[in-house]
Amino acid sequence: MANAQNWEPGSWRKLKALQQPTWDKEDLKKIINELEQVPPLVFGGEIRSLRSSLANVEKGEGFILQAGDCAESFEAFNSPAIREKLRVILQMAVVLTYQSGVPTVKIGRIAGQFAKPRSEDLETRDDIALPSYRGDAVNDIAFTEKARVPKAKRLLRGYNQSAATLNLLRAFTKGGFADLSRVHKWNKEFVATTPEGHRFEEIANNISKALEFMRACGIDPSNEHKLHEVDFYTSHEALLLDYEEALTRKDSTTGDYYDCSAHLVWIGERTRQIKNAHVEFMRGINNPVGIKLGPSATGQEAVELCEVLNPNREPGKIVLVLRAGADSIREVAPKIIEEVTKSGHIVTWMSDPMHGNTFKHASGYKTRHFDDILKEIEGFFESCSKTGVWPGGVHLELTGDDVTECLGGLDDLANLESRYETSCDPRLNGRQGLDLAFRVSELLAARK
Ligand code: PEP
Ligand code: CO
Repeated sequence: MANAQNWEPGSWRKLKALQQPTWDKEDLKKIINELEQVPPLVFGGEIRSLRSSLANVEKGEGFILQAGDCAESFEAFNSPAIREKLRVILQMAVVLTYQSGVPTVKIGRIAGQFAKPRSEDLETRDDIALPSYRGDAVNDIAFTEKARVPKAKRLLRGYNQSAATLNLLRAFTKGGFADLSRVHKWNKEFVATTPEGHRFEEIANNISKALEFMRACGIDPSNEHKLHEVDFYTSHEALLLDYEEALTRKDSTTGDYYDCSAHLVWIGERTRQIKNAHVEFMRGINNPVGIKLGPSATGQEAVELCEVLNPNREPGKIVLVLRAGADSIREVAPKIIEEVTKSGHIVTWMSDPMHGNTFKHASGYKTRHFDDILKEIEGFFESCSKTGVWPGGVHLELTGDDVTECLGGLDDLANLESRYETSCDPRLNGRQGLDLAFRVSELLAARK
């Protein structure tokens, strides 16, 4: 890896930065000075490990499960919520790996996913227009004038919550919770009594038998650390450039710059303009970078982004995340994939089946239907087969809790109001997540 030409952590400042809050400049400066001194949240060595896993995914030797909240919240911050989110992601990863035989790279939308791009600057309710909610690191979701004023000290709270969340994630993934011999214990009650839960139980039984078999053969599974620990990476949309710049550090072992706010960061559909600030910032960091590509994205745009963000064509660097919508993916994806392939760039191809399938339900809630989500993933797999590239992963919005935000699934969820709790987009609940993992594992097994 190498540092980019004519780049520094602040070189984005000369360019147009969309979706930035109207901060109080003095407050912002004070907070940023503080954030420049805080310890990094993640480390260069960890980011390099993720890059090498992504390089395997590019070769068709892995599959990424990236999942978590649309927007993390300061209010819903507690240990059970973090544990349940991790649990459902680990369960889904076991299903994917067991059913397909493909290693799963696990990445949370967690420990830093606090900033949201918005299509409208203002939100109007009953003739009152207020600045839109832009994530807990910016303003408060309450619909009052005071709540919606951007406050820079929220950035510091976001950093602190990220640090505490990461601390717990590291403890859970390295300290026994993620041990494969505990797969039965992950089967949460509400899932355990359901068809998805039963299917998971079967896999858990088979894994236990395999571990027993190894023991009987004289191989001691307790000596194999890979069976007891999990590599779990963090990610978020790198939207607030002042914050991301403040967390960017030069790695002492290599001299390379890393954005130490998360292992993987991505550029959203609304901020991926080639000449603007977000692309400039991302071109200099050595983290893997995701780029969301909506229904209007072209192959040429994708190739230009690859050229700017990865001129040296390094492996494990670029993740192109297609999110065209269930009805458009079969038309949009093959054109983009073909053009990027023709350019010679090797990338990870990923599907975000959530953001192209959001609609307003008759009850007034913003929702997504499980069937549309599945249909987009199927279209993505089909597009990858047709163009001869490897389907490298899925990017999902979900939670471990029993919320009612997305319609459908095995239970055919239809009533949204009983537990609609998201601060932004609707998330799959634990059951829907596990159900989806079984469906995706079938597609993956067939492709393999
Ligand atoms: C998101 O991932 O929550 C998001 C806003 O996505 P996109 O940029 O694809 O709309
Ligand atoms: Co979202």
